[in-house]
Amino acid sequence: MLNKKKILIGVCGGIAAYKLAYVVRLLIKEGAQVKVIMTESAKAFIGPLTLSTLSKNEVYSDFFDSETGVWSNHVELALWADVFLIAPATSNIIGKMANGICDNLLLATYFSAKSSVIVAPAMDLDMSDHPSLKRNLTQLQDDNVSIIPFEHGELASGLTGDGRMAEPMTIVKHVSNSLKIITDFSNKTILVNAGPTQEAIDPVRYIGNRSTGKMGVAIANELASRGALVHLVLGPTSENFNFHSSIQVVHIQSAQEMFDACSKIFTSCDAAILSAAVADYTPSIKSDTKIKKAANTLTIDLVKTPDTLAALGKIKTSKQTLVGFALETNNELENATKKLKKKNLDMVVLNSLADKGAGFGHDTNKVTCIHINGDIRTFDLKSKTAVATDIVNQLKEIIQ
Ligand code: CTP
Repeated sequence: MLNKKKILIGVCGGIAAYKLAYVVRLLIKEGAQVKVIMTESAKAFIGPLTLSTLSKNEVYSDFFDSETGVWSNHVELALWADVFLIAPATSNIIGKMANGICDNLLLATYFSAKSSVIVAPAMDLDMSDHPSLKRNLTQLQDDNVSIIPFEHGELASGLTGDGRMAEPMTIVKHVSNSLKIITDFSNKTILVNAGPTQEAIDPVRYIGNRSTGKMGVAIANELASRGALVHLVLGPTSENFNFHSSIQVVHIQSAQEMFDACSKIFTSCDAAILSAAVADYTPSIKSDTKIKKAANTLTIDLVKTPDTLAALGKIKTSKQTLVGFALETNNELENATKKLKKKNLDMVVLNSLADKGAGFGHDTNKVTCIHINGDIRTFDLKSKTAVATDIVNQLKEIIQ
């Protein structure tokens, strides 16, 4: 199953474009999320309406829609994708990809891609055999693009030979393999926490923060898709998440409830990744009735909340692994390393609010993983799903 994996498809102008209707349908049936970019010439071979209906998403083709005035951001599309499939890939598009020529939305997205890229070429016999195409395909392979080989058979021109695009099932298999669906956490139980907490002032007001829980939920989904049994303790968020079926979700409101739930669950876990943005302070008195407007100023007395991560660090056994997050705005490495040591962690994931596109609310993030043994790994800005894969891979290095 391609459980919520994000597949971006670039469709070019070739007769094999009609097969993309089947490719999209198969990917959706496998549980993937699909978005499609079409070149202008692709539209002569298959209608955008067919692909938008099947993919359940709008189809992109221009940088700028003159009717709606909406700008299609190629960088966002590229960051969204877990894998970028270009099919059918014409000799024209392959030549441009290999030579840095960027004259449409599909190419701009390719040159911004952080995910793996797969190309399924399709063309007529003599074009498929031309030395320039071979040169360009070799260049793409050197650029880490994976090529799905031509199939042999009857071509649209009536000639017979190499040049046919691979069949939809073969293409979907390549996409699945590229996502390396592995189950390396199959015997592990992992606690993840995510989201904000809300500290009640009275029955209608609270102190909260801007966390959405997206990063922690992506980590929980990544672990579950790799076979782990995941306990997710989630703070109040308005996001509408899809949870993998092997995630057990516990909803909490306050820092105290976060502490109680995590302390109880952690003892039966092999590891914990605590990404929640827990409030550090809570009102010392919570009014049972709505506080009425009276004086010109109002002072709320706050007391410290329990630090869940630090508490788990104290009870952690030598068989358990503990990972925390550090949200910093300045002296990032130094502050994060202090938290790593003070809270007795095996690794801390540093998030800097100084990095554009990182932190609360974004679909992207940029992290640095600092290990207790001194290893430091810094990753590029990526989709939160791709960042979750990096963090889980780092956890795997510790627990294996
Ligand atoms: N954390 C926690 N309980 C708290 C506060 C923080 O479990 N009451 C955890 C967070 O989930 C995160 C880590 O501690 O994994 C670091 O949180 P962060 O807000 O970056 O730092 P703090 O420890 O709260 O310190 P400061 O606010 O001074 O930076």
